[in-house]
Amino acid sequence: MCPTTKNPTKNLAIESLFNPKTVAVLGASRNAGKIGYKVCENIVNGGYEGKLYPVNPNGGEVLGHKIYENIASINDEIDLAILTVPAKFVMNSVKECVSHGKVKNLAIITSGFAEIGNEEEEEEIVRVAREGGIRVLGPNIFGVYSAKAKLNSTFAAGEIPAGNVAIITQSGAIGIAMIGKTKVENIGLSTIISCGNKADIDDNDLLEYLATDDSTHAIMMYIEGIQNGDKLVPLLKKLSKAKPLVVIKSGRSERGAQAAQSHTASLAGSDEVFDAVAKQCGIIRADSLEEGLQWCKYLVTSPPLKGKECVIITNGGGVGVMGTDACEKYGIPMYDDQKELEKAFKSVCPDFGSLKNPVDITGGATPEDYDHCLDAALNNDKIHSVICLGCETAVLTGSSFKSIVQKQTAQYRNKKPLVFSLVGGEEMENAIRELRREDAPIYNDVEPAVACLGTLYSYTNFKNTKEQTLVDPPVDIPAIKEIIAKVKADNRTFLLTEEAQAVMKAADIAVPQNRVESSADAAAKAATEIGYPVVMKIVSKDIIHKSDAGGLALNLKNEAEVKAAYNQIMTNCKKHMPNADLKGVEVVEMVDIDVETIVSARRDNSFGPTVMFGLGGIYVEVLKDITFRAFPLSEKEILEMIESIKSYQLLKGARGKNPKDITAAVDAIAKVGKILKEIPEITDVELNPIILNDEGKGVRAVDVRILLAE
Ligand code: ACO
Repeated sequence: MCPTTKNPTKNLAIESLFNPKTVAVLGASRNAGKIGYKVCENIVNGGYEGKLYPVNPNGGEVLGHKIYENIASINDEIDLAILTVPAKFVMNSVKECVSHGKVKNLAIITSGFAEIGNEEEEEEIVRVAREGGIRVLGPNIFGVYSAKAKLNSTFAAGEIPAGNVAIITQSGAIGIAMIGKTKVENIGLSTIISCGNKADIDDNDLLEYLATDDSTHAIMMYIEGIQNGDKLVPLLKKLSKAKPLVVIKSGRSERGAQAAQSHTASLAGSDEVFDAVAKQCGIIRADSLEEGLQWCKYLVTSPPLKGKECVIITNGGGVGVMGTDACEKYGIPMYDDQKELEKAFKSVCPDFGSLKNPVDITGGATPEDYDHCLDAALNNDKIHSVICLGCETAVLTGSSFKSIVQKQTAQYRNKKPLVFSLVGGEEMENAIRELRREDAPIYNDVEPAVACLGTLYSYTNFKNTKEQTLVDPPVDIPAIKEIIAKVKADNRTFLLTEEAQAVMKAADIAVPQNRVESSADAAAKAATEIGYPVVMKIVSKDIIHKSDAGGLALNLKNEAEVKAAYNQIMTNCKKHMPNADLKGVEVVEMVDIDVETIVSARRDNSFGPTVMFGLGGIYVEVLKDITFRAFPLSEKEILEMIESIKSYQLLKGARGKNPKDITAAVDAIAKVGKILKEIPEITDVELNPIILNDEGKGVRAVDVRILLAE
């Protein structure tokens, strides 16, 4: 578990962490095999221009720098103190830093805290540091690299290339591996920072800083779990408008999530919720390190997308079809103005080629034919991006095509996005590797190339969406709070039917007509007044699963059936739970069920209040046609949420049926979200099923379940 006792003075600027003028290494060692030596070595070899203060009680000298016996003897401000002392000495070192009085940030490399269950000491370290005005990064990290400070205070092997991609990683080992990969891929970094156990400085702090850091043009994050997600959501939305954020979130599988929990002591949230919230916030989610790094590189090197129309140029029908499929998958619209396509490519395409998109210049195409075609696409204002696909042939080889790829990459770089995908043998693969090192956007398969361009499309689409006003529907919150207070006084964590319905009334969400009666005769009278057919349900605080207890009867059409059902329900429930307190039976109008949906709000471990919408009733578990969003939301976002389920056509009125009241569904989603947001004791509000009536006729929340925190 991660510490929750964060200091109220949290918003201390962390600028000095990324641009320190002075760095102390506590645990600096003269032994070249130790981490305390490696960190000093990287700082020195990385060309750090600030002051370095190694600290070790043994004194001496390391890499030409005097070793101070303790931090107290350093008569200077310390912007960043890096701890490489064993866990048992960390607390003492932190106290020494506090006593020094001029330490601003601590980066604790040392392991052995919350990740192995030692939360208490970790919390204490943060408390002591924060009381001394010091921010803490880690513990359990590999250090910090910051290009602007020329500071490599990690214990990674070798140098880190400077550039404009920032990497935040929860896992130190993955971070070190990524440093190696960025070198292979020729990706320059503005910073790479591992946040380990996130005892104090967390993703929110780092993203907030990077959002406004001019030297960072794209951010890649590796995360296992999220804390303070409700605060993270607005920050992510804002950040994704400013620069692309590519996230690799592990723990997709249930076992993976468990491993993540024990790995860095974080709570991995439900992956479905993460996926949906990521989309909502404009996050680009990658599945692998390779994918994430390639996307970041493409996003920082590609010119901006100024329109939507994409053209594929190919020498083979097969890869053309693969490219078309991938375009659909990644939301890239294919340009299909046939007249314009002919105008653009007629003079550069052989007569037996195809001027439809994909433009097929056939298997005989030479590098020069590609060159002419790419020139034509570049000079046509109606074409906004180009996917250039090629299969190796005798007239199109890696070496013969190389110079054209170089020339066109340079030509396109400031004008419009371009990707190449070349498929072939070893010679082609070698050429691709070399071209990639020169930053050409070239891949050895169709899908990765199109996926890269797809990330630019999704980032641009999100960036261009206008900010919407968040919903704030009228809900009588004080009335609901009163109901909750009574439930709590009764020592219950769930609401009885009539209480849940009273909550619905306070939110003005319609429920079926109903009455609670305590005799068969009264039930029959109520049914006659409501109108047949009716449904009958047991009312008891002791029975939650009514049908399991035989406490439910459907489609009762007359007085006789109602009376018989009343007696049967009572007999069943007494047998099921002899000591249950049976208050009576609820007689409910039987709603005409056309399309059952589910609207629910949950307090998610990671993101706080989240809402869910989908096909309801028994279909929830079977079809799982559901979608999530973090609350609060705009009306447009809720509408998009409803439109995103696979069964949306059913709601629009498939096969001659009337369209359903989607406006009322939007209203219900907004209201359950607000209830959860405003009343912290409530953990779940589930309307399942909620029937969407025909357009203009509202909704009926047939079954309402409201749960409180234990
Ligand atoms: N002040 C300054 N220096 C001190 C103090 C002190 N109060 N106390 C001890 N030291 C010195 C020691 O004298 C020693 O220096 P020496 O070589 O001159 O004797 C130095 O600190 C280191 O102490 P050691 O006992 O030699 O510890 P060692 O270097 O073996 O390990 C370390 C320390 C690296 C912090 C280890 O405890 C640890 O946590 N390792 C894991 C780090 C890690 O993996 N981090 C996670 C993220 S990265 C990833 O996942 C790959």
